[in-house]
Amino acid sequence: MKVGIIAASIRDHRLGERVVKWVVSEASKITGWEIELLDLKELNLPMLTDARQPFDMNREYPSEAVMNWSQKIEQKDAFIIVTPEYNHGLPAPLKNALDWLYPEWNDKAAALVGYSIGIGGGIRSVEQLRLTLAHLGVATVQQVTTIARAQDNFSEDGTPLNDNFNGSIARSLSQLGDWGRALLAVRQKS
Ligand SMILES: Cc1cc2nc3c(=O)[nH]c(=O)nc-3n(C[C@H](O)[C@H](O)[C@H](O)COP(=O)(O)O)c2cc1C
Repeated sequence: MKVGIIAASIRDHRLGERVVKWVVSEASKITGWEIELLDLKELNLPMLTDARQPFDMNREYPSEAVMNWSQKIEQKDAFIIVTPEYNHGLPAPLKNALDWLYPEWNDKAAALVGYSIGIGGGIRSVEQLRLTLAHLGVATVQQVTTIARAQDNFSEDGTPLNDNFNGSIARSLSQLGDWGRALLAVRQKS
C-alpha cells in the first residue's frame, strides 16, 4: 500500500517537525507499506486562484508545483495527515493543498494526527478536517491521535519521551491499513 504522510505546517521552526518524524518512523515499521513524506513546506503550492473548480480541471493544473502535487496524491492509496490547529481550525496551507485537487483524493483513506503546544492536541482541527475530507471522498478512520504539549512528549529528532501515544497511533495505522485496502477494491471496481 502506498501511503503519503502529509506535513501540514509550513511555519519556520515548526513544532510539527518532531511529530512528523515520529509518524514517519511508526508507519515505516509496517510491512508492505511504501511511505512518502509529503511536506507542504517543500512542495510550495501556490494559493488557489484558478477560475475553474478543481472538479473541472481534468488534472491539468496551471503550475508545475500543482501538477507534481496531483501526481503524488494520485499514486497514493492512503494518507496520514499530521496537522496543528490554528484558531480552532485547520491550517490554511493544508486547506489550500486539499482544495487544489479533487479526483485524486476520491475513494482513499486517511488517518489524522493532531498536535499542539498547549492542551488541545489539535482536536478541533482534526474534526474540521474530517468534514472537508468527507466531501473529497476521503474516508477518515475512527481512531485519531491527538498530541497535547507535543514539545514535552517528543524530542526534536522525533524520539518519543514516553509511551503515551503508542497505543493510539498503532490503532490509527491498523485501521488505515484495513480501510486503505478496502478502498483500493472500491477504486478497482469503478
Ligand atoms: C496562527 C496560530 C493560531 C493558533 N491557534 C491555536 C489554537 O486554536 N489551538 C491550539 O491548541 N493552538 C493554537 N496555536 C498554537 C499552536 O499549537 C503552536 O503554535 C504549534 O507550534 C503549531 O504547530 P507548528 O509549529 O507545527 O505550526 C496557534 C498558533 C498559531 C501560529
